[in-house]
Amino acid sequence: GAASKGEFRHFMLKEIHEQPAVIAATLEARLGERRVLVESFGPEAAALFDRVKQVHIVACGTSYHAGMVARYWLERFAGVPVQVEVASEYRYRRVVVPEGTLFVTLSQSGETADTLAALRFARASGYLGSLAICNVPGSSLVRESDLTLMTHAGPEIGVASTKAFTTQLVALMLFTLALGRIKGLDEAVQAELVAALRGLPALVTRVLALDSQIESLSTAFAEKHHALFLGRGVHFPIALEGALKLKEISYIHAEAYPAGELKHGPLALVDSEMPVISVAPNDELLDKLKSNLQEVRARGGELYVFADEHVALEEAEGIHVLRLPHVHEALAPILYTLPLQLLSYHVAVLKGTDVDQPRNLAKSVTVE
Ligand code: G6P
Repeated sequence: GAASKGEFRHFMLKEIHEQPAVIAATLEARLGERRVLVESFGPEAAALFDRVKQVHIVACGTSYHAGMVARYWLERFAGVPVQVEVASEYRYRRVVVPEGTLFVTLSQSGETADTLAALRFARASGYLGSLAICNVPGSSLVRESDLTLMTHAGPEIGVASTKAFTTQLVALMLFTLALGRIKGLDEAVQAELVAALRGLPALVTRVLALDSQIESLSTAFAEKHHALFLGRGVHFPIALEGALKLKEISYIHAEAYPAGELKHGPLALVDSEMPVISVAPNDELLDKLKSNLQEVRARGGELYVFADEHVALEEAEGIHVLRLPHVHEALAPILYTLPLQLLSYHVAVLKGTDVDQPRNLAKSVTVE
């Protein structure tokens, strides 16, 4: 039957709250005791992964941000060079494909026109093979790829992607560990990450319980016209995704910067009308941020920090802190996505926008 919102006011909110279950479903039957089961990617996966020397990742929108996270993971744990690109750029340029390159697409729908066109182009470009990480069985992308790994997010109705993104990240960590295993990733590190993945649904549930605190924060954003998201390393793409969510559904102009670039431009914009959101800073980054923020505190700049419960940071005038449960640092980008989803959701509700069907946007962009 037609998908129902159940007890929730919007599909987006329902889908945000489904994340513990759909992350668990995406992990189901893919984890051994201390390692990822490479067979999850299909019977030919192990032989193909063995020949992989680098990876090209292509996607659009939120799926592209998942690809950007995967670059950090794959280079760190599997030791293979990775390129990530939006499909609409990739498909129209001359791409050099080194020998032994695996082509990876990420897509919720499996029907995004540019991503499909990129896959078709890649099939004629001398790649080793193609892997699709996708949420819709039987979609064009799944049918046309050599290997597939399905995200088990279930139907996603809200135009702004939430559970599809976090399950893509989970699938990409499974891919990282599968490739890592073949490339000689330390057994103890594999076991540690497998255990951390198993614990993830429970941590996600704990973050969802922060909803009323995040709702309170949202009142500070509803009247603003701009917001700046900062993240470093693997959290830079999460900052991009936080900014995209806010843009998509609340129509507030938001941009994301790698935290280290703050002084190279965006700092000039910070004043009392430009809230700054910092995603998952560690102690060292916080020191740097604090010194930057001092420069703008005089002008009324407000900083909202989503941080680990163990990070040394006091709430102070103009510095608001939301504490998240401690998580294995490699999986932190998955956990820190949730408060940003909830923040944009509550801001959009306050602004009275059409949360599930934002103006001018489509769930799946099937024409160029
Ligand atoms: C549209 C949707 C986004 C989605 C993007 C890519 O822009 O509004 O939520 O991230 O398409 O879609 P895909 O189905 O390929 O992941």
